[in-house]
Amino acid sequence: MADNWQTLISQDALEPGDVTPVPFGELVLAVYDTVNGIFVSDSRCTHAGANLCDGYFDGKHIECPLHQGLFDARTGQAKAAPVVRPLKMFKARVENGFVQIAPISK
Ligand code: FES
Repeated sequence: MADNWQTLISQDALEPGDVTPVPFGELVLAVYDTVNGIFVSDSRCTHAGANLCDGYFDGKHIECPLHQGLFDARTGQAKAAPVVRPLKMFKARVENGFVQIAPISK
């Protein structure tokens, strides 16, 4: 099977227990070091586009810095107003110490 996973960042370069912004093409991805492992989403809030990497992260949830909307960083699910739409999540894994995401299908 073809291995098309794309490397984002070394796991050592992540903010331990926090969220780290990683440029990826035209996007900036948010890489979360959660209590359940590494998860990756688009860094833009689905409410008004604020940068979630500047928000408060508690190991499970990311709070938007602009209007304090809340997402589950492990699922992308919207958890508190004013956000209602889920985050765009990317399938992620850690391989040989590097965070990778699965190919993005359009
Ligand atoms: S931009 Fe994130 S809650 Fe408004």
